[in-house]
Amino acid sequence: MSAVQISDLGAHVGETVLVRGWVMTTRSSGKIAFVVLRDGSGYMQGVLSKKEVAEADWERFGALTQETSVALTGTVRAEPRSPGGYEMGVAGVEILGPSPDYPISPKEHGTSFLFEHRHLWLRSRRQVAVARVRHEVEQAIRDFFHARGFTLVDTPILTGSIGEQAGELFATDYFDLGKAYLAQTGQLYVEAAAAALGKVYCFGPTFRAEKSKTRRHLTEFWMVEPEVAFNDSNDNMRLQEEFVSYLAGRALEQRKEELKELERDTAPLERIRPPFPRISYTDAVTRLNALGSDMQWGGDLGGDDETLLAKEYDRPVFVYNYPKGVKAFYMKENPDDPRTVLNNDCLAPEGYGEIIGGSQREDDYDRLLARIQEQHLDPEAYRWYLDLRKYGTFVHSGFGLGIERTVAWICGIPHIREAIAFPRQIHRLYP
Ligand code: 4AD
Ligand code: MG
Repeated sequence: MSAVQISDLGAHVGETVLVRGWVMTTRSSGKIAFVVLRDGSGYMQGVLSKKEVAEADWERFGALTQETSVALTGTVRAEPRSPGGYEMGVAGVEILGPSPDYPISPKEHGTSFLFEHRHLWLRSRRQVAVARVRHEVEQAIRDFFHARGFTLVDTPILTGSIGEQAGELFATDYFDLGKAYLAQTGQLYVEAAAAALGKVYCFGPTFRAEKSKTRRHLTEFWMVEPEVAFNDSNDNMRLQEEFVSYLAGRALEQRKEELKELERDTAPLERIRPPFPRISYTDAVTRLNALGSDMQWGGDLGGDDETLLAKEYDRPVFVYNYPKGVKAFYMKENPDDPRTVLNNDCLAPEGYGEIIGGSQREDDYDRLLARIQEQHLDPEAYRWYLDLRKYGTFVHSGFGLGIERTVAWICGIPHIREAIAFPRQIHRLYP
């Protein structure tokens, strides 16, 4: 008998099939017994009638515990009250792998216990739903850029030039060449690739040795970073609002069931469409002060400031042209106000805060060199990056969207550590 996936049961109504998976729950009245099975493609209820199955199968069923792996054979029938709309009238039960004393029971567990058992916790309904939304977001990212003629360029993870903040680097010894760093960003490399291919993006893991223990920070996270030749800062924001709206739309369209499982109120996601409101950093400071924040012009927006400001809008908001002092060396100086740079953050609504950081890049050789020196970075490590300003310099812009923050926002989960299978945090390297 050939094995069938639960998601395909609809095509086998009336047939006798084999389904393999893991036991989620069982219950029995003594004459009729039920099992809910998960196989990764969906959930299926199996029903056994004591008088219709062999004694041995009935007994094997009685021995099933949570997460036992089993092969069930039986007849598929439509059952509107069953998860997925189909159920199996079970005739045979084969135990593939027993599961004594499974540590995660349906009762409540504390978060640290669950993260200690992350390798098993991944099997729970909510975690499966989050994983599927994440997959949808990642696939949507690739589809979005592919459809718009972008070329994916894979950038190195081991780098010799600091991408963002000198203070937040993971370093490792690299043969005779001194220190190598784990990439904080692929941006500098996609800037080089943009001069070759026009519209490019990279998509991979990035690393920050940040001491932040907030619900928005991981030490390893995934980022997608498009870079476009001849886009200025305004073009850059237009691309971002189309992109973010597309991602939210795809999740709503393709992952309804998962969002329901997560009890996500989808009304706020349905409002996500371009154009997004825009506010300059300077106006944002005034607004925040009026809302009770004591932040001063010149400082970065803290997490609480972001939340406060974003609450004013019903869709993501762009805050643009931050002070030079709080932003990275590569951002282009604003010709209308050299105290600021041509950049933007995109703040997600509902308290999620920054999901994107983007900017027009400094394309002037001398100004870029001066910025590198001001930040006490080694110009020798950036010789190749400076070359891009020496040989056919060009206006260009790009941004980075953090996958875990975006997935957490779309799923409506409070902490980004649940938005990745195996989170890396200051105090977590296991499992
Ligand atoms: O604002 P960031 O640091 O920007 C860059 O890395 C630029 N090189 C991007 C570019 O212009 N190509 O990071 C971009 C995004 C943030 O908005 C956030 O979503 C995410 O990456 N991010 C983090 N996510 C989880 N944990 C952390 N520690 C993060 N740091 C940044
Ligand atoms: Mg940022």
